[in-house]
Amino acid sequence: MENNYSNDASHVFHFFLNREYISIANAKGIYLYDNKGNKYIDASGGPILCNLGHGLKEMAKVIGDQAGKVSYVHRIDFTNPPLEEAAQKVCKASDYTMDKVFFVSGGTEAVEIGVKIARKYHLDNNKPSKTCVISRWQSYHGSTAGALAWTGSTGRRSDFFPYLHDFHHIPPAYCYRCWFNKIPETCNLDCANALENEIMCLGPDNVSVFLAEPVSGMSLCGVVPEKGYFERIREICNKYDVLLMFDEVMTGMGRTGKMFAYEHFNVVPDILALGKGLGGGYFPIGAVAVPGYIYKKIADNSGMFGAGYSWGGNPLGCAVESKTIDYLYEHDLVEGRSKMGKYLDHKLEDLNTHPLVGNIRGMGLMRGIEFVEDKKTRKTLDPKYAFSARVAAECMKRGMFIEYSGGCDRGQSGDMIMFGPPFIINEAQIEQAVEILSQAFDENLLSDSSNFLTF
Ligand SMILES: Cc1ncc(COP(=O)(O)O)c(C=O)c1O
Repeated sequence: MENNYSNDASHVFHFFLNREYISIANAKGIYLYDNKGNKYIDASGGPILCNLGHGLKEMAKVIGDQAGKVSYVHRIDFTNPPLEEAAQKVCKASDYTMDKVFFVSGGTEAVEIGVKIARKYHLDNNKPSKTCVISRWQSYHGSTAGALAWTGSTGRRSDFFPYLHDFHHIPPAYCYRCWFNKIPETCNLDCANALENEIMCLGPDNVSVFLAEPVSGMSLCGVVPEKGYFERIREICNKYDVLLMFDEVMTGMGRTGKMFAYEHFNVVPDILALGKGLGGGYFPIGAVAVPGYIYKKIADNSGMFGAGYSWGGNPLGCAVESKTIDYLYEHDLVEGRSKMGKYLDHKLEDLNTHPLVGNIRGMGLMRGIEFVEDKKTRKTLDPKYAFSARVAAECMKRGMFIEYSGGCDRGQSGDMIMFGPPFIINEAQIEQAVEILSQAFDENLLSDSSNFLTF
């Protein structure tokens, strides 16, 4: 097999249609290997997804064993042992704060189902006018037309914009570039209060759910809201009977050093969307978890939730999910690895003196860097440099894959990269990864670069 597929030799409809892609043939631990034997550190675990590390034989065995028992039954007609076990394990991981789990095949589907659960809850609560979804600018919630409409990342929405049914967005909780020109010490959490303004303008009787990532994913690369932000958001939601939905597709299952990121913020969401790491990097599975009162409202009224997908709750995915949760606990990969997150943060701090490093942020093993042209004014780099894309390309040349993103200045400019390695990464590997990154952006990358496509 070829290592690099030129555009002509491949029948794959790629993301970058004119790029020559490297073919990864094997992966083990935090490393990817191509067919020529080149080795790459997977510093972002794919798109912050491969939480357990690559090549675990026990995961392959779980899939094989389950396929030999029963690989598929339809959730509308049957339950199955892995499905029951998988739901119980998510609830147990939340200390039974969550009581019921709806399985899907990925993060976008989880967000879609979560919004539909909110709608159904209000219908069964005799409030049928509650339909509006409010989310935040500079967020990402998935790629279907619905999830993209709630997404607030300008770059990811723009191509599809006339096609989307547009929804309502409030400013992000992004102190480094506060939309209200305030500083955290005296801001009075204007970015949280913006939710109340939006609800009032739309009419509280019309608002169903507020959707947010507790720690920003790729659209803002690891932004953590100011203390008290989500407590204020929770208060506002309670006041107007608006459900609070956390998109923990990226942050869930231990990524931030706790099993679920909401545990950091002293609030509990009414709806919790999960994906990515839920399958450890071994099977496409997502889920929506809800506390008992949400389920009971629907159970006691219409008694049916007519949504879902053919592959939802399939035994293969559920078996992988159960094993993933067991593996996290058996190897102490959640709280136990939070020290690795701190170590990564500590090592990244060494880069803070670099003139192009504007802000380093994140939680656990989810750490973003925002690059700037001017540290003092926080002016973003000119998009013509495609700086973060070129940093990522320089990292690849040196044997490391890292995710990059842009648009942090209201969707128009900005450069970021995000570390999100498998949880098994060790100190020496962190040191090596940070060293590669520092060499990558030490290169003279500030020149016109129109051949680099960014998003
Ligand atoms: C926060 C968040 N929500 C939703 C999604 C969509 O998940 P998926 O790509 O698995 O559909 C993503 C994916 O990047 C994400 O980061």
